[in-house]
Amino acid sequence: MSSTKPNASPATNTRNRITSSPKARLTSQGELTLPTSNILSEEKNTELSKLEAILEDKESRSDQLIEVLQDMQTQFHCLPEDELRIVAERLGVPQIEVFRVAKFYKAFSLTPRGRHLLTICMGTACHVRGAPKLLDTAAGQLNVSPGETTADRGFTLERVNCLGCCALGPVAVLDGVYRDHITPGTLHKLINAVRKRDKKGM
Ligand code: FES
Repeated sequence: MSSTKPNASPATNTRNRITSSPKARLTSQGELTLPTSNILSEEKNTELSKLEAILEDKESRSDQLIEVLQDMQTQFHCLPEDELRIVAERLGVPQIEVFRVAKFYKAFSLTPRGRHLLTICMGTACHVRGAPKLLDTAAGQLNVSPGETTADRGFTLERVNCLGCCALGPVAVLDGVYRDHITPGTLHKLINAVRKRDKKGM
């Protein structure tokens, strides 16, 4: 993989980009003051470093917009607005278009999602085969309503109207894996298993 700037880490690149315009000033007492935008939290720096890596080799590549947004969604579990503005500038895409795409596709979210995305199909075919019980099970176990994310950012629960595989209903999708003919009991175990796995990984 080639680097956009040899001898500079993505983090350094990012910091340079973000802080290059506002200038540090010396006060009359000889103290150095930095503009507010220079004072970035470690978390923000990490996020911007990740964005820098995602954007590597994509300068002015407007055709890469969807791919960049997919990578951002995977890395950040959402599409932060400030970062979307950076993407617009770097890819050479109008901000309005970047936000339109980010809002149009269900795969993208402007608000933070959990580490795991659980989607329950509530289309007619799944509905008559017990999807409401699946949704109740998941909502009760996770203590959220559809469209919400658990307080620990572990899960986001969503409902959709059809996943296009009606013969397999009821269907739930966990982190992109389709679970066909799933029962409330199986779903309950599945959520527990993911939680246990997450705890072990901590
Ligand atoms: S109704 Fe559930 S997949 Fe179509």
